[in-house]
Parts: sequence; structure tokens; C-alpha cells
Amino acid sequence: CMPMQEPFEFNIQLDLQWELQREDITLVERLDEGFFGQVFKADLVTCNNTRKEKMVCAVKMLKGNRNEKDVLDLLTEMDQMKRVGKHKNIINLLGVCTQNGPLWLVIEYAAQGNLRDYLRRNRPQNTLCNLVLPSEGRNPDDELPVPHGDTLTQKDIVSFAFQVARGLEFLAQKKCIHRDLAARNVLVTEELVMKIADFGLARDIRSCDYYRKHTRGHLPYKWMALEAMSDNIFTHATDVWSFGVLLWEIFSLAGSPYPGIKTHELVKFLRSGERLDKPQYASQEMYRLMRDCWEEDPSKRPNFRTLVEDLDRMLAESS
Ligand code: ADE
Repeated sequence: CMPMQEPFEFNIQLDLQWELQREDITLVERLDEGFFGQVFKADLVTCNNTRKEKMVCAVKMLKGNRNEKDVLDLLTEMDQMKRVGKHKNIINLLGVCTQNGPLWLVIEYAAQGNLRDYLRRNRPQNTLCNLVLPSEGRNPDDELPVPHGDTLTQKDIVSFAFQVARGLEFLAQKKCIHRDLAARNVLVTEELVMKIADFGLARDIRSCDYYRKHTRGHLPYKWMALEAMSDNIFTHATDVWSFGVLLWEIFSLAGSPYPGIKTHELVKFLRSGERLDKPQYASQEMYRLMRDCWEEDPSKRPNFRTLVEDLDRMLAESS
């Protein structure tokens, strides 16, 4: 399944701190495919003292139809992931293969896939939804049934929000602006650890190419701050707006924001002061937090540090 690739003439500097042997990596299956990139599930053999250990990882690479700019973009993504460093709530770089073949970024594997699909899979199957909010007199026994005998609770989804905020606080500290925050770009591990993905991507949100390559029919406008949509301005404050929409996705268990609103109507809708309604599983306090993220004036929005503090408190208060 590995496409043949004619190498472009790139001499990539060997960085012994990160370089892995290709022989230690076995591609297993394709997990994800974009227009120019793809991600495989893979086995990685690591040497721990004298013992060899096998671990599951993911390998990001380009497809056969890539051009020179795509290679440069993937190199930028590699550099950005090296620069940012490690955090529990981001997809960490494990190593790279840069020599004698196509560029591979070896990254952490998240068994549950993206958060949007995870939430959809774990929605209650019946209309008698018994995930009731504390403010509505929640009985501690009331829980949301999910497949495989697990039970998703109110506290779980507050924890998801908290973990995503922690990852974003870390990225903001590292001066990293994501530009495309959405539940589809958060990955979920087997242990339900939230990990922000694609934070190192070189993005030109405005180019038609970008949409063709990344969106798969999604309308990223619906996650974008007003000033990002109308003036192409991207800052930590525009990431905070998108995080508000991500919160809305979590507390609607992956609902679709602004259904029926066309892109060209969205700016008018938001300028008139309208916002998304409170999603079903959000408390009034959680909805207040979302609304704060959607302040028209970017300077009035909270930052990720205060969002983490607020969500930490709400997590402690939820049972
Ligand atoms: N899809 C894209 N990247 C992934 C990863 N790192 N783990 C699991 N699924 C993915």
C-alpha cells in the first residue's frame, strides 16, 4: 500500500536526537487520508536497555501526488513539533525518518480516533437520555450508556473540555496558534486522554487548496472567529473562539453547529449578536464560558489560562 515516490532533491539535515531506523517501523493500516497526506497505524520497535519493546504508533507521510511545497510543509510541521516539546494533551512526536526514503513523522497513536466521531459513537442509543445535569436534579446513578459497557458521565465530558483546554494552554505558552481547532482535530486515546492534533500544520486557511486538502466537506468557517473570517486575522484569541465552538460540540455530543446557515449568512448572523444556543448537556455556567469565548471584541475573550482554571473548578464541582 506504500505509493512509490520519486524523491525531490531535499537534503534533510540528520538530527540524531530524533532519527529512527525505518527497519524498526512496520506500517499496519491506513488510519486517515487527506488530499496530500496520510496517516498509518504502525508498530515501532524500541530498545529499552537490552530489551526490545514493541509499541503502537502512527506515521504521518505524504502521498504520491505531493508537490515540493507539500514536502516543505511537512518539514515545517516536523520542526514545529520538535520546537513545541511534549505535553500529555497534544499528539507528541516520537521520532522521524528523514534519510533514504520518504519523510515520515512518527507520532503518538490515539486508539479512539477523533473526538467528534468518538462522541457520536457514544451518544445514547435511545431518546430516553438519562444524562441529566446537576442543576436539573441529577441523580448520581443517571448516566449515559455507551457501547462496550462503559458509561459516559457528565464529569467525563467536563474532563474532556478541561483536557483540551490544558493542551491549548500549553500550545499558547509555546506561541503556537492552531487555526483549525475543532473536535475533528482532537484525538482520543484508549484511556480517554484528549490530544490536540495537527498543531504544527502549515496552514493557509484562505487558500482554496487548503479547503480541498483538509476539510472533507466540513465548513471550517463555523469554527472561525469573526475577525478571522472577515479579515484573515489569526491570534490566540481566534483560537479561543474556536475552542468555544469545540466546547459546544462536546456538550452537544458532536452536534453540527449552525445547521442550515450558509457561509455568507454566518458573518451577518454573528455581527447581529446571535450565537449558538446552549447545547443539551451544558450547564448554564458552561454555556456562559462558551459565550465569553464568542465575544466580538477579541480582547474581551478569556485566555486559555483562565479557561483551564474555570474548567478545573467546574470539574471538581461535577459529580
Ligand atoms: N488519525 C490521524 N492521526 C491519528 C493518530 N495519531 N492516531 C489515531 N488516529 C489518527
